[in-house]
Amino acid sequence: MTDLAAAAGSGAGPVQGINLPAPSMTGAKSLEEALAHRRSVREFAPGALTLSEVSQLVWAAQGVTAPERRTAPSAGATYPLEIYLVAGKVDGLGAGVYRYRPRQHRLEAVAEGDIRVPLAVAAVDQQWMSQAAMVVVIAAVFERTTVRYGKRAERYVHMEAGHAAQNLLLQAVALGLGATPAGAFNDAEVSRLLHLPVDEAPLYFVPVGRVSR
Ligand SMILES: Cc1cc2nc3c(=O)[nH]c(=O)nc-3n(C[C@H](O)[C@H](O)[C@H](O)COP(=O)(O)O)c2cc1C
Repeated sequence: MTDLAAAAGSGAGPVQGINLPAPSMTGAKSLEEALAHRRSVREFAPGALTLSEVSQLVWAAQGVTAPERRTAPSAGATYPLEIYLVAGKVDGLGAGVYRYRPRQHRLEAVAEGDIRVPLAVAAVDQQWMSQAAMVVVIAAVFERTTVRYGKRAERYVHMEAGHAAQNLLLQAVALGLGATPAGAFNDAEVSRLLHLPVDEAPLYFVPVGRVSR
């Protein structure tokens, strides 16, 4: 068992991830307030995110809300998106790369170690990202949607990444956290750092962290 796997779970036998706490279906801020206050935030306070906050954020991006249905719409319900976390400072979660499993609402360990700095370098050296407690990376398996919609699926998948990112950005505001969407990065380098399978492509980053009050 890797150190990360050990840090990410408990109980007997090899542990490859962590079950997330259930997301909350209520919040203190209205949707209108979240929309009014959303702003790209690139300066973060040093505090860690809680596992509950992480749970809420990944659920907002791609959580299951009904059988075979999620928080974000999907062309033909083909669900091409995969959500990765590059965790740096999250209470109860070792620094590393994790893949979100929506059906189980669970994080699966992919690789251990804090890669926020090399990830920021791969994002045309946007060093501010390395100060975020974690970076959410939205990736996609285009094939899931192209088998049904052919070439047009390309635009559908990009639209879906926008839906998931906006859900995440608004959820961050609702939690009192800071976040920014980012599309400038080297695809090959990000795929290497995240150990993405060959049929997955990174599409969008959303670094998230605490903000100074
Ligand atoms: C598709 C897309 C890609 C973006 N890429 C980056 C990026 O790589 N780095 C960055 O700092 N901001 C990035 N942004 C954030 C924009 O700079 C920001 O949304 C814009 O300045 C408006 O500010 P606001 O988000 O505070 O309203 C991106 C936004 C979008 C929609």
